[in-house]
Amino acid sequence: MYADRRSFVKSATLASAAIALPAVRYSRVYGANSRLGIASIGTGGKGWSDLTGVAAGADVEVIALCNIDSSKDHLGQAAEKYPAARRYEDWRKLLDESKDIQGILVSTPDFMHAPIALAAMQLGKHVFCQKPLTHTVFEARQMQLAAKRSQVVTQMGNQIQSHSAYRTAVNIVHSGLIGKVKEVHSWQGTSPTWPRHIPRPEGNDPIPSHVRWDLWQGVAPERPYKEAMYHPFNWRGWQDYGTGQIGDFGCHILDPVFKSLKLGAPISLKASAPSLMMDAWTDRATLQYKFLGTESTLDSTITLTWYDSVGIAPNREVLPDIPSDYKLPNAGSVLIGEKGTMVIPHVAMPTLFPEKKFPKETIPIIKEVDHYVQWADACRGIGETTSHFDYAGPLTEAVLLGTIGIRFPEEELHWDAKALKITNHVKANGFLHKPYRQGWEPNWIV
Ligand SMILES: NC(=O)c1ccc[n+]([C@@H]2O[C@H](COP(=O)([O-])OP(=O)(O)OC[C@H]3O[C@@H](n4cnc5c(N)ncnc54)[C@H](O)[C@@H]3O)[C@@H](O)[C@H]2O)c1
Repeated sequence: MYADRRSFVKSATLASAAIALPAVRYSRVYGANSRLGIASIGTGGKGWSDLTGVAAGADVEVIALCNIDSSKDHLGQAAEKYPAARRYEDWRKLLDESKDIQGILVSTPDFMHAPIALAAMQLGKHVFCQKPLTHTVFEARQMQLAAKRSQVVTQMGNQIQSHSAYRTAVNIVHSGLIGKVKEVHSWQGTSPTWPRHIPRPEGNDPIPSHVRWDLWQGVAPERPYKEAMYHPFNWRGWQDYGTGQIGDFGCHILDPVFKSLKLGAPISLKASAPSLMMDAWTDRATLQYKFLGTESTLDSTITLTWYDSVGIAPNREVLPDIPSDYKLPNAGSVLIGEKGTMVIPHVAMPTLFPEKKFPKETIPIIKEVDHYVQWADACRGIGETTSHFDYAGPLTEAVLLGTIGIRFPEEELHWDAKALKITNHVKANGFLHKPYRQGWEPNWIV
């Protein structure tokens, strides 16, 4: 059903179509007493905790499991835990046989999120999809449109949003404790283990008998198999498959910033970064975004600066009220407000400065909720999700615009979200979208 119904619609048409669509009415939910049948696509790595997290919900039944790798760490452990579940190596076959399944978990590498989730939503399935929601900005917009059109329950897997620490930070801004926010700095100051800023390795290795390399590559360009270079986990560092450091962490670290300030789309961004290599993502970058102000910001625009890699962090001089002996967390954000400054570590309780003005025991703590069960319950008509694609789509668009910014260091890019267009840079605009492998072209909005 997937490759047969190819349709490709130009981005501008789809971007404007977004405006006319109705809000999600949750009309496909089943009712509090009904059972939710789920399938997990990508059962290893993060998929394992996605699957077990959702399966912990009331009246959830694991109907099907899909993995291109049949070994213990991938399909194996899930099949052992859910022996009655059907097993697949090709997610297209799973969807073709999905009449008894209402919810799909997409926990594959980034580049396969949109093709799988869009196909699932077209079949009317609820979707839980890992972060970042997609591989390109265009895909992120399509996910928002498809979720609206199909009226399904959606959730992005940025589970820290539901953690007490991030919920507490968001509440601090909403309750006005630090006043209107003037400026934001966010960073990921650790160096990941996955490959960055290296040339593509030459040659090819034998494909292990338990790996379906062709199915792993899906919509991506065909490449030779290289042991431990792409599958599993290390795909993150390669432009064909992952989204680099900001793509990996932006949807976590920037989430409480977006939630608390209710940010929309950026209006411009400018990066400082070394020249990008042909295939791999960079190992360091700084990005300055400008957003239109909101009810929680002091001015009509607000600047958010993202710093990525070891040793790159905000200059302490631009962080008021934070004593020099306070060690900034390795990753997190600082929100500078009129009345105080908040540090949101990734992941720990926020600290407010000056500390004397904000004694710890006076800060209201907001309890955590279960991000996975929240989705499962919402599919059954109980409550709503908080990282639905109407929220996660724009957050992902902003994060992925950053991956375009680092391709054009020191050039300011102007973003028109409504038109889905970088208005002042034809070459940068070309990176909003990408070509797909022949026969694997996603079936966009129908
Ligand atoms: N929310 C979080 O905290 C968090 C943490 C880690 C990873 N992630 C996200 O989860 C996703 C997966 O990351 P990972 O680290 O688990 O990657 P991984 O490569 O370790 O695991 C991916 C799993 O999916 C399987 N797979 C790959 N392609 C498939 C396909 N087409 N069909 C079926 N199965 C397929 C792999 O065999 C593997 O079991 C990514 O989008 C990543 O950004 C999120």
